[in-house]
Amino acid sequence: MSWQLALPLDRTSRLPLAVQVRDSLRRSVENGTLRPGTRIPSTRQLAQDLGVSRSIVVEAYEQLTAEGYLLAKRGSGTTIAEPPTSQAVPTLVSPDRDRDAAGSMWDLRTGTSDIAAFPRQDWIRCVTAVVNDAGRQELSYAPPSGVPLTRHVLTGYLGRVRGVRTRPEDLMLTAGFAQGLALICNVLINRGHGALGVEDPGHPGEREFVTSSGLRPVGIPVDKDGLRVDLLERSGVRAVLMTPANHFPTGSRLSEARRRRLIDWARRVDGYILEDDFDSAFLHRSDRVPALQSLAPERVVYAGSASKILAPALRLGWLAAPSELMASVEHVRAGWDIGCSGIEQLALARFVDTGALDRHQRKMRTEFHKRRGVIRRYVAAHLPGAHILGRDSGLQAYLQLPPHVDEQALVRAARARSVLVRGGGFYTLADTTRPPALVVSYASVNCADLGRSLVALGAAYREAGGA
Ligand SMILES: Cc1ncc(COP(=O)(O)O)c(C=O)c1O
Repeated sequence: MSWQLALPLDRTSRLPLAVQVRDSLRRSVENGTLRPGTRIPSTRQLAQDLGVSRSIVVEAYEQLTAEGYLLAKRGSGTTIAEPPTSQAVPTLVSPDRDRDAAGSMWDLRTGTSDIAAFPRQDWIRCVTAVVNDAGRQELSYAPPSGVPLTRHVLTGYLGRVRGVRTRPEDLMLTAGFAQGLALICNVLINRGHGALGVEDPGHPGEREFVTSSGLRPVGIPVDKDGLRVDLLERSGVRAVLMTPANHFPTGSRLSEARRRRLIDWARRVDGYILEDDFDSAFLHRSDRVPALQSLAPERVVYAGSASKILAPALRLGWLAAPSELMASVEHVRAGWDIGCSGIEQLALARFVDTGALDRHQRKMRTEFHKRRGVIRRYVAAHLPGAHILGRDSGLQAYLQLPPHVDEQALVRAARARSVLVRGGGFYTLADTTRPPALVVSYASVNCADLGRSLVALGAAYREAGGA
């Protein structure tokens, strides 16, 4: 049978074709264009239809099969896989159903927060108080950039915990970091930018956002001291998106020397740095240096989010932009929407103002620190030869593996043992020099389940030739 598949490829793009095939297929599965059970062409057929070499398609299929997107059956071809149990269960359901899902699959993939720890009672108290107190003004349209009270409270909070230097009028509430990123991309395009530097490895979803907004993502490698600023200088871009406090996903922190050099670069090229500080609530004590924005508020757009510390479903984020950029950001936003929910924004202001956010952060930081301890112990015992990169912060551990380990075979073997985890390749754009790796998120598994899942992962590791 010669099944057909429409897969757009951009031959003018600098993105390798293998990456384009893989990302395009993954996107189609994730957004539901390709439904579970759908047959897709053989690698030979697709390669022929696309006019690319077969190895390109084989590589993409293998990786997507390892990640659980595709199902390859000998004799009956390749189909789109059913989503795993934990994916099929809606995220915000009753705690009991969440537990059932956790029992059938351990989900160590990045991209979620500890939803079970969402401070329901505190949040309900804040929302109830806001709704009870709301007058005409609170129930009406707020300025698109955000409720003035929330902007004021967040400005104070960000100064206090991250050293961010801003004013309420330069701070905008957004529908999560994602909207902030899309806004900044559009502002950059309006100012003549054609490309944006992104960390390699980095967040594949963010790269897609950058691409769909019309900018070309240019991968800049990252090492143990963070982004390679020397390579950024040579890349020709004039703006960069990065996670300087805790690189996602390797966990390195931008060194002091590179922070200075980066700011010098931005000033020299009249450029901007978009600082994604989404997980700063979980920085370990020794990693809590002030945000990069504090060094150059006129060059850095600081972006934060409630997704990790509270829940992604709130869709709340914030941007502190250079004053000179703010009017352009507001102008772009004016064509998109009329702001985020005023009630949620007021609830957030109350959550911060009553100290509930600080309390919750402290609790979560302690919990995640314990989970990192579990990772360290179990990796040493069950994944010999694996080396945890980065610092002691954040929500995931980057395990660098010995060069002989087959990353995709390991991801497949882990899945067969009910562990959902991603390999380092999922996060890379074009940097093919990195050794095999696993990225283990501990955001949504408690210490006991984490231990159990790492024992299972250890068995998969042995099976894949890791030990
Ligand atoms: C690298 C990175 N930045 C930012 C975010 C937060 O995005 P949002 O606020 O749109 O949920 C995430 C969430 O997974 C992330 O992984």
